[in-house]
Amino acid sequence: MNVTVIGTGYVGLTTGAALAYLGHRVTCVDKDPAKLELLCRGKSPVHEQGLEELMSLAGRNLNFAHRIQEAVKDAEVILVAVGTPAKSNGEADTQYVEAAAREVAEGLKKGRLHCLAVKSTVPVGTNRRVSQVVRRVLEARGVGDKTTILVVSNPEFLREGRALHCTFYPDRIVVGAEQPEGVDMLRRLYQRILEQTFDPPPFLPRPEGYSLPPLVSTDPTSAEMIKYASNAFLALKISFINEIAGLCEKVGADVTEVARGMGLDPRIGSGFLAAGLGWGGSCFPKDTAALLAMAEEHAYTMPIVSASREVNSRQRYRIVEKLQETLKGVRGRVIGVLGLAFKPGTDDVRESPALDVVRILVERGAHVRVHDPVAMDNARRALEGLEVEFFRDPYALVSGAEALVLATEWPEYRHLDLARLAGTMCTPVLLDGRNLFDPEEARRAGWTYMGIGRWA
Ligand code: UDX
Repeated sequence: MNVTVIGTGYVGLTTGAALAYLGHRVTCVDKDPAKLELLCRGKSPVHEQGLEELMSLAGRNLNFAHRIQEAVKDAEVILVAVGTPAKSNGEADTQYVEAAAREVAEGLKKGRLHCLAVKSTVPVGTNRRVSQVVRRVLEARGVGDKTTILVVSNPEFLREGRALHCTFYPDRIVVGAEQPEGVDMLRRLYQRILEQTFDPPPFLPRPEGYSLPPLVSTDPTSAEMIKYASNAFLALKISFINEIAGLCEKVGADVTEVARGMGLDPRIGSGFLAAGLGWGGSCFPKDTAALLAMAEEHAYTMPIVSASREVNSRQRYRIVEKLQETLKGVRGRVIGVLGLAFKPGTDDVRESPALDVVRILVERGAHVRVHDPVAMDNARRALEGLEVEFFRDPYALVSGAEALVLATEWPEYRHLDLARLAGTMCTPVLLDGRNLFDPEEARRAGWTYMGIGRWA
């Protein structure tokens, strides 16, 4: 199929490259000339494992363009994956989605059937609004009766750092459409994924036991809600285990054991029960806020979603308070923080719990040193104006420090020589904010070890 993808962020670029790899002729559009220049050289503007390799494997099927109107001329399917930043009241701003839809409707050839699928996470009801925008433009062009654009909702569930995996091996593909033709077009678009009739990229083997993903066909409004409800549920699962972790510390239980025991119940499931600093990133914070804004608009309250956000922000403070207790205050103390990305596998620091911990520590007078394997540049920008020292080497970072906080569980940190680290610390206090290390091993290596939900 001829496919145009609008927006080359995580979602747009991953989807575009994957669809091109699967044999579609894909044009990815982005307005940012700097991004476009990178993309045309085969470089990805986002750090995502395997993405550049996939772009190269996609070869000539993957093209880039600057202007929507030209790129959509021959498109059968147009995927909109532009950003929906949060407004000051938490509501997701759909102006870029609507602007893209308008330009699509202005550029499409007349007399054809096209499908415009909204992949961006948009407030419930956006699909209907986008349909109206499109219809108005077509009428103004005088082609309203000859050209059909089916507007469908096709929410995306990909996770940063695992974006390619989520695209080739999804749990489900959700399509919300008013007309069955819209579902049919997306079924054709994703056919090879739905039937798994492709040769996996060499670096992305099909997981053992992976079964064919269902296509969930529903109405557009429910599809939009599926996305928000899924993210809010995952966020609250994490907040729940963090709340339990707090009590585990008081009563002397180990939250990792509790989560293991809970997760074996298939009604609960083992995923997203890792206690730690809490959730961050571009989705959970924004989507839970958007859900609350939507509720408020309808004079409705969502106490569970609100509580999950509260628990999440409290978690950052609890961690700092734990340090304060152990060190008898953090003012003037030298504290190292390992990991700045909001999770491993990405250079994304948006709403990163690690950065919040750094900010709180600095606010309370600590001298903070930081390290991250890939997110240093983004963190430098995010922490601008704050007195923080950036270190390229974790061993240099700990030298003479009085406490170390493990804030993002990069796998490379697991291979650090704990005894060597402890040896150069002024006081070897380790606050393992992601329960990455084995407490006994850390203690044997000379640390005063504190995890999350594991230590009274
Ligand atoms: C999330 C959703 O998982 C994905 O389906 C959606 O499309 C976008 O939002 P992402 O933000 O990339 O994806 O990251 P995810 O892996 O879900 O982690 C989100 C945050 O939760 C991270 O800060 C992570 O550290 C934290 N987390 C995750 C925990 O604290 N504990 C867990 O058990 C799992």
